[in-house]
Amino acid sequence: MPMTRLRLAGALAAVLVAAGLATGPAAQAHERQPTLAELAHRHGRYFGSATDNPELTDSAYTKILGSEFDMITPGNGMKWYATEPRQGVFDWTDGDQIVRLSRANHQRVRAHTLVWHSQLPDWLTSRQWTASELRAVLKKHILTEVRHYRGKVYSWDVVNEAFNEDGTYRDTIWYRTLGPGYIADALRWAHQADPHARLYLNDYNIEAVGPKSDAYYRLAQDLRAQGVPLNGIGLQAHLALQYGYPATVQENLARFSRLGLDTALTEVDVRMQLPATGEKLAEQATWYRDLTEACLAVRRCVGVTVWDFTDKYSWIPAVFPGEGAALPWDEQLNPKPAYAALREALR
Ligand code: G3I
Repeated sequence: MPMTRLRLAGALAAVLVAAGLATGPAAQAHERQPTLAELAHRHGRYFGSATDNPELTDSAYTKILGSEFDMITPGNGMKWYATEPRQGVFDWTDGDQIVRLSRANHQRVRAHTLVWHSQLPDWLTSRQWTASELRAVLKKHILTEVRHYRGKVYSWDVVNEAFNEDGTYRDTIWYRTLGPGYIADALRWAHQADPHARLYLNDYNIEAVGPKSDAYYRLAQDLRAQGVPLNGIGLQAHLALQYGYPATVQENLARFSRLGLDTALTEVDVRMQLPATGEKLAEQATWYRDLTEACLAVRRCVGVTVWDFTDKYSWIPAVFPGEGAALPWDEQLNPKPAYAALREALR
């Protein structure tokens, strides 16, 4: 019977591989361990990394970026300061470079980000706008950028970091000038420009159930009730060992799922006070494992992205002096215990 023969052939191959006797493509495939992306794919998830344009000249780096991950986020290249440096003058150089590289590596792109209070060009922040002027500026920016990447990106972080820690709206140029309706407008314009892109709201410190994630929960309910095109909530997950693990992350992901929304862990890193010790790295590994398992446990958690994969290019040391070692690969591009923990979670 064919099945028996198949089993026999399989058993024979296993014996040959174990004995180190097998050669040929099948044996080689056995020798290469699956990547994080391949492991995640078995669960119907992706495993992604952020990257940034200056890093792309580092070939040891791009080799890992191009092989371990199947989703890429441009860390800066699609932000407003980069894409519309002068009013009405658009520059796609950085974003296009990352999209091209991702396509060459058969990776998808989580595009980031359209509406944020940070990294805005001077022409936008250095003058006063009336509501109707600013609304026109925002609409044009969103329509133009989303149209440019239409069909080339999987999703957009449409609005980034809209709430304060206590769940009130963050006082930004957008909120101040346009009121809270800017969020629904932004989502509608993005949808108009690319009806197939998955549209997200994205923020940090919303991993656990709490005032800030409650604000997103209520806003998501409202937006859905109004028929606004919102597809997902991105939990950035910039964590720090000294503040403790967000114990309710799975519960939190699950409640957004029940609203009919996708969720994703979009910017994961786990920083620590330096120096990194064996003990801290082991603790960090547990956090990476637990975060990944939480996502796998919730049906509509679509994937995990680390905010770059190596400590060599992490944003942490520049912003939190004395802290770092936040990513699964060290500064020499060697995998850390966190990498093994990710593999374990995905197996
Ligand atoms: O472009 C200038 C360059 O001309 C100059 O020579 C250089 C000197 O410092 O600075 C460059 O700008 C830097 C920019 O990254 C591009 O490299 C800024 O100083 C630096 O502050 C900026 O940091 C970025 C940060 O967002 C800004 O808030 C990080 O790379 C980026 O990883 C980070 O990403 C954010 C997400 O978008 C949203 N969530 C939080 C996350 C971490 O802050």
